Amino acid sequence: MLSFRIPLAIAALTAGTLTIHASTQAATAAEVKTASDIQIVSLTNEHGMSIKVTNYGAIIMSIVVPDKDGKLADVALGYDDIRSYTNAVDKPYFGAVVGRYGNRIAKGKFTIDGEEYSLPINNPPNSLHGGIIGFDKVIWDIQVEESKNAVKLSYLAKDGEEGYPGNLSCSVTYTLTDENEIKVEYFATTDKATPVNLTQHTYFNLAGEGEGDILDHQLMINANRFTPVDETLIPTGKTPAVQGTPFDFTTAKAIGRDINSDNEQLRFGGGYDHNWVLDKGGQTGELTLAARVVEPKSGRVMEVSTTEPGIQFYCGNFLDGRLIGKSGKEYVYRGGFCLETQHYPDSPNQPNFPSTILKPGDEYETTTIFKFSTTK
Ligand code: BGC
Repeated sequence: MLSFRIPLAIAALTAGTLTIHASTQAATAAEVKTASDIQIVSLTNEHGMSIKVTNYGAIIMSIVVPDKDGKLADVALGYDDIRSYTNAVDKPYFGAVVGRYGNRIAKGKFTIDGEEYSLPINNPPNSLHGGIIGFDKVIWDIQVEESKNAVKLSYLAKDGEEGYPGNLSCSVTYTLTDENEIKVEYFATTDKATPVNLTQHTYFNLAGEGEGDILDHQLMINANRFTPVDETLIPTGKTPAVQGTPFDFTTAKAIGRDINSDNEQLRFGGGYDHNWVLDKGGQTGELTLAARVVEPKSGRVMEVSTTEPGIQFYCGNFLDGRLIGKSGKEYVYRGGFCLETQHYPDSPNQPNFPSTILKPGDEYETTTIFKFSTTK
């Protein structure tokens, strides 16, 4: 049975201060307010899997899935209330959509048609995840599509916002299917050529959020090459083979197996924080398997498929136990991993990478699916 609830909390953002108007009253889709309101929506499928989504940052706040014995756990790091997202130290982008350009742009500069653009440097010396107020920190319009068990979030990023050219009209739709999939569909159009690279920044721990580190998770990444970086995490432009390096996940292995190897790339990233070049088998732009993760004790499995050419595997190297999650547990060092489907970092400055420039009249359309199952 599909079920929709919007009863949790409604908040309004006024002059930069978040005022929470707690509401226990159930709201219907018709009551969804303007972009100045924050809503939290729950979707449930016929297997009892559920997700919670908010239009603040298009954040996925929770993903509750069964283990091999049917026991439910929330496998997404994050919080129960919006204020905790806005207050979190170091703003780790828990669950959010990042944009207008996910990952880094070198020195916050790029040139389109001879015009140079400058972005805020929020990750010195580079610009990261769309700038200071990226898509993870804005309020999206929200529309519940009840018949599809979906939530559509829309946002208009203005020409010049965070330094990017063009009015970018974009949306992300989360659909929870009865196959235990979260389908994420991104769409955007622009009135001026602009870089676009939208991704989802959920931190997963398939043992349950707050249940220690993720080093025992077995990971397969469907990629024979990756994009090594310099010490500021900007790609060198080369795409060497992973074979014979700690970056070889072509056959599943524990995330922790090679993570402490003596390797310059691992030193630069403080662990894995790199983009892999997905093997698309000649199916560029098609939905293909990108990664598979198994948590041995719970038997939970997550498969990631995408139309995108790359995936950033980031294993929570900057978590350090200071953030306390929704169930009161510390988010320890490497207590969650992200698999961010994307175009390669710094593409606007890398002539050999697939283009991320969206032009007027073009449509940006990408899909990523996170599918959950168990090993039983
Ligand atoms: C980046 C990391 C960054 C993290 C922020 C990831 O997508 O690759 O370098 O620290 O986001 O939470």
